[in-house]
Amino acid sequence: MSTPGEIDTTDWRRTHTCGELRTAHVGAQVRLNGWVDGRRDHGGVYFLDLRDRYGTTQVVIDEELTGEVKLGPEDVVGVWGEVVARGAENRNPALATGEIEVLAKRVEVLSKSKVPPFEVIDDLDTAIETRLRYRYVDLRRRPLQRNLAHRSRFINALRRAFEDEGFLEIETPVLNRATPEGARDYLVPSRVHPGEFYALPQSPQLFKQILMVAGYDRYFQVARCFRDEDLRADRQPEFTQLDMEMSFVEEEDVFAIWERALRRTFAETMQLDLPATFPRMRWSEAMERFGVDKPDTRFGMELQGIDAWAAASEFGVFRDCVAGGGRVMAIVVAGGREGVSRGQMKPLEKTAKEFGAKGLAWWKPGEEGGAAGPMARWCEGAPGARLMEQLGASADDLVLFCADRREITWRVLGQLRLVLARQLGLVPEGRWDFLWVTHFPMFERDEASGRWASSHHPFTAPEDWSLSGDPGDMCSRAYDLVLNGWELGSGSVRIHRGDVQQRVFDLLGIGADEQRQKFGFFLEALSYGAPPHGGFAVGLDRLVALTLGLDNIRDVIPFPKTTSASDLMCEAPSPVAPEQLEEVHIQLRPGL
Ligand code: AMO
Ligand code: AMP
Repeated sequence: MSTPGEIDTTDWRRTHTCGELRTAHVGAQVRLNGWVDGRRDHGGVYFLDLRDRYGTTQVVIDEELTGEVKLGPEDVVGVWGEVVARGAENRNPALATGEIEVLAKRVEVLSKSKVPPFEVIDDLDTAIETRLRYRYVDLRRRPLQRNLAHRSRFINALRRAFEDEGFLEIETPVLNRATPEGARDYLVPSRVHPGEFYALPQSPQLFKQILMVAGYDRYFQVARCFRDEDLRADRQPEFTQLDMEMSFVEEEDVFAIWERALRRTFAETMQLDLPATFPRMRWSEAMERFGVDKPDTRFGMELQGIDAWAAASEFGVFRDCVAGGGRVMAIVVAGGREGVSRGQMKPLEKTAKEFGAKGLAWWKPGEEGGAAGPMARWCEGAPGARLMEQLGASADDLVLFCADRREITWRVLGQLRLVLARQLGLVPEGRWDFLWVTHFPMFERDEASGRWASSHHPFTAPEDWSLSGDPGDMCSRAYDLVLNGWELGSGSVRIHRGDVQQRVFDLLGIGADEQRQKFGFFLEALSYGAPPHGGFAVGLDRLVALTLGLDNIRDVIPFPKTTSASDLMCEAPSPVAPEQLEEVHIQLRPGL
């Protein structure tokens, strides 16, 4: 190390990071670089907190040096100095470097910062729009740095797990043929082929299946996917999947690979011991017990069918519902007699109606003669006693009812269960409830067109390969992985036979021309020796967010988009020059 007088000011390499120095370094001559996190003028002595992504180090700048350098927040600064021990009274146990400080011999401003739009602090309540506009400043904050570092470690551990299982990471194209997969495609106009478009992949689905046909029996990829859909906290227009596919397998083989990979990744990156296998639950059971296909199994308050009781009830709405083929179900809110006040019932009913309910009947059984709620009159005497016994309810509880078409009853009570659990603090912390949901329906009726649509995608194998019977009753070999009530991933055993694929297209009402036009290349590939195969894809943004206890995937994505799919920093999307449009043969509608 050179002495101060010999500093080469063009050499800005550091000897240590701002998170590195400890008591063992006392006496060392060091060079640190970082951002000005804070400055305090203690009359003659100037304290500087120098920050980089490894931590913060306190630098002491003597009076004679402070005159030379004017420091502002977020300036980038190089400091040459000596590591000294802090006096006992000045130690900062909250800081990893809190035992020492650096006595500056020279301070050099490497670049000045404009006044930052907000402070670089952990707890920031600045509007998200401002944070996204100046994302490079936002990304300096410790929580985001922690998130991205965890993301990197987590994805790398998963990658290693798949490689060690003999999977090859194979990249598939981003400029593709438009093939509908549920959401709208992002389109890219072709310059060379006037009037033609590529589509960005919604997932590598068809390519990974074609890789199976090509004999690459264990494929995986950390794949960027693009979907033009309505955005929410758990949805971004571009996101990342850990996508995989295997040949000659059944559901259980796919599950086992993922269980091993996730167990290993959680152990390596979070020192958490996941169970060797995750529970499995059929879709029909998930809907009956939890009202949703991604049950949060960390708490009870399960749905209970009371159709027989309702059919015998004096309450006309319930009787008619059962007679008309609907479902009457209830949830019991333990301790809800006290826990949920009368004043809270109105907003709860409003929530129920938002989820499609016609009303929200409720009942607080209470002690003898103390019943409350609109259902009290229908539950008086023996019917009420029978109901309490069936539901396992007590006088202190609240019972909520819904009578409607099966799908609506499930949805309303399933969602109320989640809302109430959050309100009442019933969701335990620190639980990792993974769950495989299996046996999804093969088709669902598209309400608008009345046509059958695939529940997963049209390449999903049916449980019964003969595809006989009512499409509404057919079970598929699709499965989801759920974690704490979030859908983490989906997959299925696929159709590897052209004739079965044809039948599925027929049932979906996709005619020969449409098939050829949309999937011709894929159907042709299947006809050249396709092995039985199946696969899965996990949304990595969701998984990484959940492992950090975050409820918005934006916080694990360095440059996320807003809910209107804009990038506020670079202002994408944006108009383009007329010449650029002309080059790709596009004319905008007048007025645009
Ligand atoms: P699916 O469409 O269910 O399946 O997607 C798999 C997982 O990707 C995540 N995901 C998203 N994450 C963030 N933003 C989005 N807009 C978004 N959309 C989906 C979810 C989801 O569970 N090709 C099939 C997989 C297969 O069959 O192998 C597929 O893409 O976590
Ligand atoms: P009504 O007799 O229609 O005034 O309804 C009595 C109670 O039942 C009210 O609290 C309504 O909100 C509720 N209710 C009405 N229809 C339904 C339904 N389909 N499911 C559950 N509760 C209902």
